[in-house]
Amino acid sequence: MIVKSVDLVAVGVELKQYPLEDMPEIAIAGRSNVGKSSLINMIIGRKKLARISSSPGKTQTINFYEINENVRLVDLPGYGYARVSKVQREKWGAMIETYLTGRQNLVKVIQLIDLRHPPTKQDIQMYEWLKHYGLDGIVVATKADKISRNHIQKHMAVIKKDLGLSKDDILIATSSTKKQGAEELLKLIYDTANISE
Ligand code: GTP
Ligand code: MG
Repeated sequence: MIVKSVDLVAVGVELKQYPLEDMPEIAIAGRSNVGKSSLINMIIGRKKLARISSSPGKTQTINFYEINENVRLVDLPGYGYARVSKVQREKWGAMIETYLTGRQNLVKVIQLIDLRHPPTKQDIQMYEWLKHYGLDGIVVATKADKISRNHIQKHMAVIKKDLGLSKDDILIATSSTKKQGAEELLKLIYDTANISE
């Protein structure tokens, strides 16, 4: 699987700004600062296309990255960021919910969990919600480089248990700094979108 082209085709906060529903989309969800934008950069092999920041709340719009003109990765704003106003938080929540429930070409949502910590209450809520809409089944544990090798399996087991993953669900440990998991994820995205390349 090769990334021949990648294009930020749209940045939006409401439906009319989103691209046409003319190709499969896979969205990336997770708490603020978990590494969603970094993961997208790693998968597409561009260091800085998706903007990242060490302070939470960097991504405030829904950003659509088109790969090889046949599949889109969708970068969502993070949840659980305390230092924004209630009004702003509700606005983001509504924006994410409208996208996730109303998008015809949304195939799956990859949920990111920080491998260092057990899933938060909001992570679990989000996953339950994805299950309800049939968008669950792929979880990525980020920042694997921050955990020693012999602890990784233990932390993965906690994520599995807390989210209630079944044996058919997929859980992949990644590191955006070490570029771990990029190829596997790109292949998974293509398989999930049901297109060959
Ligand atoms: P929001 O847009 O605020 O929701 O955050 P995000 O989920 O898009 O996170 P982002 O990619 O901006 O990364 C947040 C911080 O975590 C940045 O400082 C990244 O450099 C760091 N980070 C992301 N992924 C990794 C990783 O795999 N390993 C390490 N060590 N740091 C990472
Ligand atoms: Mg981001």
